[in-house]
Amino acid sequence: MKGVSADERGEETPSVSASKAPGANAARAITGGPRHGRRVEGLMASVSMTINGKAVKANVDPRTLLVEFLREHQRLTGTHVGCDTSQCGACTVHMNGMGVKACTVLAVQCDGAQITTIEGLAHGDELHPMQAAFREHHGLQCGFCTPGMIMAAIDMVNRKGHEIDEHTIREELEGNICRCTGYHNIVKSIAAGAKAMRGHQAQHHQAAAE
Ligand code: FES
Ligand code: FES
Repeated sequence: MKGVSADERGEETPSVSASKAPGANAARAITGGPRHGRRVEGLMASVSMTINGKAVKANVDPRTLLVEFLREHQRLTGTHVGCDTSQCGACTVHMNGMGVKACTVLAVQCDGAQITTIEGLAHGDELHPMQAAFREHHGLQCGFCTPGMIMAAIDMVNRKGHEIDEHTIREELEGNICRCTGYHNIVKSIAAGAKAMRGHQAQHHQAAAE
């Protein structure tokens, strides 16, 4: 069985409807300078957000995309860049619990937001059920699309529930491109991960209540 790679677990890789969000150029085009009320020092803007449960504050060029902020400022390189034009979904992360393509969002738009990346899914050595399902059902080959697939899959379950049929999964994956698997095992992985997430959520709610 193929193991989950460090990259897939996010050791090295988030609905604005992911497939319908504007592209990076549009995101950059709307910067046009600081927004009302934003703290500005010269051409830099101060942003604060929580990433994988950790408070982060930084001064950034207002044109900085969220994906750049994650990869280049925070060294969270599990979030990948495949196209930079809102097509491939490799950059999918969660913003306030909803899937977004991080190449379509400016870092300054995330001021005050909760961001989750692939690195924030596992609890220590315990993979998130969706990560475990991708490993179990061989839902990857090169793994480049995998972090984005897993983040999109979890968002899909959060919106569509735990019993998702194949047709729905394939339709929902419209905004995530895989160049090597043929999708069959990805669809199987997501269906299994969706079911496993039910127990996982119950477990974590119970742990939180104790
Ligand atoms: Fe963001 Fe491709 S890099 S959708
Ligand atoms: Fe290679 Fe999807 S596993 S691009």
